[in-house]
Amino acid sequence: MTEAQPDLTVDIAGVKLANPLMTASGTCGYAQEYADFVDLRQLGAFVTKSITLAPRPGNDYPRVVETRAGMLNAIGLANVGLEAFLKDKVPALEKLGLPVFVNVAGTTVDDYLAVAEALEGVGVVRGVELNISCPNVKEGGIQFGTDPAQVAKITAALRKVCKKNILIVKLSPNVTDITATARAAVENGADALSMVNTFTAMVIDVENRRPVLGNGTGGLSGPAIRPIAVRMVHQVYSQVTGPAGVPIIGMGGIQYARDAVEFLLAGATALAVGTALFVNPGCIVSIRDGIADYLRRHHCRSVKEIIGAVHA
Ligand SMILES: Cc1cc2nc3c(=O)[nH]c(=O)nc-3n(C[C@H](O)[C@H](O)[C@H](O)COP(=O)(O)O)c2cc1C
Repeated sequence: MTEAQPDLTVDIAGVKLANPLMTASGTCGYAQEYADFVDLRQLGAFVTKSITLAPRPGNDYPRVVETRAGMLNAIGLANVGLEAFLKDKVPALEKLGLPVFVNVAGTTVDDYLAVAEALEGVGVVRGVELNISCPNVKEGGIQFGTDPAQVAKITAALRKVCKKNILIVKLSPNVTDITATARAAVENGADALSMVNTFTAMVIDVENRRPVLGNGTGGLSGPAIRPIAVRMVHQVYSQVTGPAGVPIIGMGGIQYARDAVEFLLAGATALAVGTALFVNPGCIVSIRDGIADYLRRHHCRSVKEIIGAVHA
């Protein structure tokens, strides 16, 4: 007799996901790019690359560099812009049959509002993920995400336009106290938090004595950041979101099922995978199956039983 399949379903502020796994923004384009490599329909949700009001060419090359336990990127929010996204990318996303969360970026609050408003009527879109934490844009990016007063302001503004779509605020880890920005988002109406974005970092080419990235600095992601991200998720879950009943989408270096389970135990309800997709696009499906194995081994019927269940 085969053992019952554990229940992997989770709920992100009313959006039901078949399992907790989703793509991390910017690492899977608009889905079509990965169609030949992995069956994305096996995920819980799809998260798009950041969309801005106008198209953006992005930063100077090189834009990515590998490090020993991860990578740095300074893409600079290169994207097709809102209009082309709606016309050219949404039809393919509709075919996925998954809830889609659109990551939105901008340099002014009005930019964010315009994009979020336009996404309200788009059927396949179930949520807006505010990228207030991109460290690679010179004109704004970082300020929104590192100052609790700015986080409060942008969250409150977006709260007014996100009616059908849930409002997810993606936090920057480049702060002294992440509970302060988390609290600002939650108190001003965030339905969920995504955490974390990349850590500002630098790689230097020692022969020519210049930074490798065209932008000088970039954001560090991958296995190197996982223990810091797990600590941040646990801090925010225990001090802010747990008591408020707000779910966390945890990310940062998830590559194997045990990494994902760490984030769940720390307090994440859902999980996003980014850098690991560049190594093995199929890992996201193995991670999902590995979570189910873990639950069976620990005699849990549902993934919800382990959310925040670390004995800390
Ligand atoms: C190449 C690349 C591009 C990214 N682009 C975006 C983006 O457009 N918007 C965003 O919010 N985060 C972006 N991120 C950050 C990821 O969504 C994620 O927060 C971070 O990489 C940590 O997860 P990981 O270690 O699994 O990659 C990007 C990350 C990488 C590696």
